[in-house]
Amino acid sequence: MILSVKNVCQTFGGLRALQDVSLQMKTGEILGVIGPNGAGKSTLFGTISGEISRQRGEIYFQGKSISDWAMNKIAKAGLVKTFQTSRPFASMTFQDNVAIGALAQGFSIEKARLHSIDCLERVGLGNQFASPAFGASTGQRKRLEIARALATNPQLLLLDEPFGGVDIAAVDSLINLIKSLRKQGLSILLIEHNIAAVTKLVDRLIAMHLGKVIAQGSAQDVTTNRLVVAAYMGVESEHSIA
Ligand SMILES: Nc1ncnc2c1ncn2[C@@H]1O[C@H](COP(=O)(O)OP(=O)(O)OP(=O)(O)O)[C@@H](O)[C@H]1O
Ligand SMILES: [Mg+2]
Repeated sequence: MILSVKNVCQTFGGLRALQDVSLQMKTGEILGVIGPNGAGKSTLFGTISGEISRQRGEIYFQGKSISDWAMNKIAKAGLVKTFQTSRPFASMTFQDNVAIGALAQGFSIEKARLHSIDCLERVGLGNQFASPAFGASTGQRKRLEIARALATNPQLLLLDEPFGGVDIAAVDSLINLIKSLRKQGLSILLIEHNIAAVTKLVDRLIAMHLGKVIAQGSAQDVTTNRLVVAAYMGVESEHSIA
């Protein structure tokens, strides 16, 4: 098991954003998380990666409890998350945007800049390294975001909507990129609204609704599950309040 999440809870004011969420992930797995807007998917990723401090529950990464670790310590241990909305430093080059990720992990400036070229090559942006980030297309920004995460040499990558806002042609090449990262030994947990794309990519799916896991299993089983279909149709659309 690379990741084990046990009974994690998170509340914002009166809103129960995560209610006893548990999941397990095998090393080398590509696991998808789906669910309607506000289901708690990004909150779950923020909690696992240490961006949001957990209120209750336990999180284990490679057998070690990381429940109370800060985000930077978790990233150094090999678990890193991309942001749902990518926010590169627009005036900086692709290379320097990636180098920042490596610097945060304690690389020297020279090493960080060299390493960032490797990371850009791994995501298919090798020949773009000197371009400023403000000219990047949405697909390129998504790749840049992945390259920034790779700069920390992760074993587990959490991707929050890697295909969001990307056109159909670019989605297929992003699917191939994520598959190639798995071949290189990474485990990948991803949130995605594009069900057709996620179905092509994942080994297994988890569906969330109103802060709870409502189904898990094969993509086929989860996407046809009665509760999942009802959640997407807004049948149970009220938020539970603590
Ligand atoms: N920092 C916060 N403060 C208060 N409420 C929050 C905060 N972050 C998230 N929420 C609320 O928690 C719930 C879950 O939000 P979250 O962003 O995790 O959903 P999501 O499943 O990622 O949705 P989407 O598909 O729209 O990205 C929502 O009702 C949201 O408004
Ligand atoms: Mg989200």
